Amino acid sequence: MGKNSCNAGWKALKNHYRQIEPLHMRDLFNDNPCRFDDFSIRFEGLLFDFSKNRILDQTLQLLIELAREAQLGEQIEAMFSGQKINTTENRAVLHTALRNRSNQSIFVDGHDVMPGVKRVRNQMRRFSEVVRSGSLKGSSGKSFKHIVNIGIGGSDLGPRMALAALEPFADPDLTHWFVSSLDGTQIHHTLNKLDPQTTLFIVVSKSFTTSETMINARTAKQWLEQQLGDPQAVAKHFVAVSANRAAAEGFGIVPDNLFELWDWVGGRYSLWSAVGLSLAIAIGMDRFEQMLDGAYAMDCHFRTTAWRENIPVIMALIGIWYANFFNAESYAIIPYDHNLRLLPSYLQQVDMESNGKGVTKLGEPVDYSTGPIIWGQVGSHGQHAFFQLLHQGTHIVPRDFLCGVQSPHDHQEHRRLLLANFLAQGEALMRGKTAEEVRQELQAGGMDAEEIKRRISHQQFTGNRPSNSIIYHSLTPRVFGQLLAMYEHRIFVQGVIWGLNSFDQWGVELGKQLAGVLARELTDDRMVDSHDSSTRGLEMQIKQWRQEHLTAS
Ligand code: F6P
Repeated sequence: MGKNSCNAGWKALKNHYRQIEPLHMRDLFNDNPCRFDDFSIRFEGLLFDFSKNRILDQTLQLLIELAREAQLGEQIEAMFSGQKINTTENRAVLHTALRNRSNQSIFVDGHDVMPGVKRVRNQMRRFSEVVRSGSLKGSSGKSFKHIVNIGIGGSDLGPRMALAALEPFADPDLTHWFVSSLDGTQIHHTLNKLDPQTTLFIVVSKSFTTSETMINARTAKQWLEQQLGDPQAVAKHFVAVSANRAAAEGFGIVPDNLFELWDWVGGRYSLWSAVGLSLAIAIGMDRFEQMLDGAYAMDCHFRTTAWRENIPVIMALIGIWYANFFNAESYAIIPYDHNLRLLPSYLQQVDMESNGKGVTKLGEPVDYSTGPIIWGQVGSHGQHAFFQLLHQGTHIVPRDFLCGVQSPHDHQEHRRLLLANFLAQGEALMRGKTAEEVRQELQAGGMDAEEIKRRISHQQFTGNRPSNSIIYHSLTPRVFGQLLAMYEHRIFVQGVIWGLNSFDQWGVELGKQLAGVLARELTDDRMVDSHDSSTRGLEMQIKQWRQEHLTAS
């Protein structure tokens, strides 16, 4: 697609859409007994089945042509080799360097980034080992038991989601907490449950200026100093992960406790760096590195495999097919895996902050849809909530179902039923149920003809509703790393085809600016005459209620 929707690849797909639109997947499966084999890819312990999509082989060929027109191959190499593809911030995009397990150097501005990556990884190893073994002590000589990650966005969701995913591998003697909210309620409740003598705070902020993180870090620091009565305690109980050394040191972080980040790591792509420190402490550095190995394996697959057999590329192209030709506005991520319960929220940030853009890299407005609305939750809960809409609603919602075959516990009967539901939903959405099938079913149950007539349209399912199925043996750190890298690359490919810069996020700035102004105004009860009447009206009511509350108390 590139700059606009008028190029040859785009037009060919528009024509092809007219051919595909009337086809039903039920017939495609009936016509081709090899459809599953034709439209699935195995990679190590993963199986990616994309046969339940409204595609023919020709669809993929045309989509691949679109990717070629967008110079996807060149763009992949540009990213991996450290070119400054984040053009609005003049930065390289090298989360892949953080998991580069080869001995190859990667240069940015003539400087090899790999020695720095290895140095910080070694620092993470040393630090996580002394915390896990208990040999690192707080200011009163006790080992750490509570690890609190203070951050927001990628500096929170990444390690929080990963810890939920890999919880079966975590050290049960350590308790992990995540504080991200600007609402003081969260840190209030968290601090109430902590013993200051055994608590370690990890302040994670690439910029070390993010207001939510900074206020939480200051509140935690104040609490620690008050509780321990020792202003020196901060040096022993706080570590930081940041690209802003001066600000972190100004906060009181001692140099040995600072884990470096680089401007070529985007916040939402930073789990692979020291942003994952709390995860490394929980599961140990060996397992953290297994996760990196898995991501690296997926990087190699993505970089070297022909596109027709390339999982992230095919996932991306299918997403484009629905977003731009079927006008699907959203995309659902539905894990049948309790440990992946935070994956939809995590991918919401990675995808929507990356591709929620309305202008191309050249600053031209797009005339096509870009990143879809990403949403979802675990399948068994979704089945009792929003699946009604997926089956019979009017929106087209392509989705990914994910499920591990082995569970990380002994309740195998649960997993059998979970797997059955995972399989059933994909099949039901694809096949549907015809009016005739409903009629026969109700007749067999003894219902009278009049009632059957009344019921049929309510109980039939159109089907032809697309899904990808992703299964894996079990959610090991390696498989988990593969899954995340797979999604990162899917988002990258879509950004390339839409012609976007997927690595800036200017859209979050305006709200921050206005909040700064309003925060200053809310320090007193003076009248304001700026803003629109709605904002002003709300602000004045807030001021009045705050004032009344102050007077009453
Ligand atoms: O939401 C904007 C954003 O910059 C995210 O991209 C990032 O993950 C988050 O804020 C936190 O940023 P930082 O790590 O600099 O505190």
